[in-house]
Amino acid sequence: MKIFRDISLSKYNTFDFDYRANCLILPKTEDEAISLFRGEISWEKPLLIMGSGSNILFTSDFKSTILCPEIGGIKIEEQDQENVLISAGAGVNWDNLVEWTVNKGFGGLENLSLIPGLVGATPVQNIGAYGVEVKDTIEKVRAVSIEDGSITEFNNNDCRFEYRNSIFKGEVKGKYLVTRVYYKLTVNPLLNLNYGSLKEEVNKLGSLTLKNVRRAVINIRRRKLPDPEVIGNAGSFFKNPVVSSSAAEIIKKSYPQMTAYEDQSWGIKLAAGWLIDQCGWKGKRIGDAGVHDKQALVLVNHGKATGKEIYDLSEAIKKSVREKFGVELEREVEVVGTI
Ligand code: EPU
Repeated sequence: MKIFRDISLSKYNTFDFDYRANCLILPKTEDEAISLFRGEISWEKPLLIMGSGSNILFTSDFKSTILCPEIGGIKIEEQDQENVLISAGAGVNWDNLVEWTVNKGFGGLENLSLIPGLVGATPVQNIGAYGVEVKDTIEKVRAVSIEDGSITEFNNNDCRFEYRNSIFKGEVKGKYLVTRVYYKLTVNPLLNLNYGSLKEEVNKLGSLTLKNVRRAVINIRRRKLPDPEVIGNAGSFFKNPVVSSSAAEIIKKSYPQMTAYEDQSWGIKLAAGWLIDQCGWKGKRIGDAGVHDKQALVLVNHGKATGKEIYDLSEAIKKSVREKFGVELEREVEVVGTI
């Protein structure tokens, strides 16, 4: 297991900030993680568990320990005529896993193509895109207790999945390290093409196949979302807010063209990108902290912005949306550090 002291985090956050951590630990296997939590190696608390840092905003150096699992391996666990259960280590690159499933002809993850990050973060965040959430396919999540190194398996219900939320961000936050995730996929895929222009994009490519859905999603994402390899960002910076139907009605009276969807749980989900766009923020920048010019939900680092500058920009955006629409935006990225 690799252990680094006083290390730059620039490779460990997609905003490309050069903050430092006192210690960075990269366990390669579940057993290495267990030995760490059983006290066989000493490390400083508090512990921050991270994936690839694609959903985090550091605002200062991290004066303690960060742990990024590098646990690999993709396996077929069980297969029958309808379904296949696969598992992947927490450190597997998410899009590599999606590509592997599509190449094998297994359906369920194709709409989630090109989402940055690692497998271990997918249940934590309940990642979602183009009408699919990863909770629809997760069978169970294997995790190691940070307190004593014991293993727990959380089934789908135990994970208490919600929109971009799960038990791992709530009740058991900071208590477990996810080591392996099990996904139940279909052998005869049913394509989900209900979101926006996805079907149109697939039709442009030809027949309705898993590979074409993946290609279509990749094409749409490349057009709208900035590549973190080119310009620092963490994808959607805010969640889409869910408001009561009466609150949505009031806004709709003044803005009939507003984008809104019925939410599965309650109320109406508004498009945060649309709200921010209407406040005139799209493409704006304050120094090197900016709002992406093709999708206002994404904040970007044009070069030398600090975490604090991105944070301040997000506060200014929240204030505009509150004043114009009476809607409170909630950050999707996790803010870590002093503000
Ligand atoms: N819109 C605007 N202006 C903008 C951005 C969006 O008017 O600047 C409008 C669009 O025209 C559209 C609506 O808002 O009518 C929704 O936009 P889009 O389809 O781009 O999706 P989104 O709701 O902004 C969500 C996810 C994305 C995911 C897409 C596609 C959240 C917070 N974001 O974005 O996820 O890729 O749907 O399914 O739920 C991420 O989580 O990092 C992420 C990128």
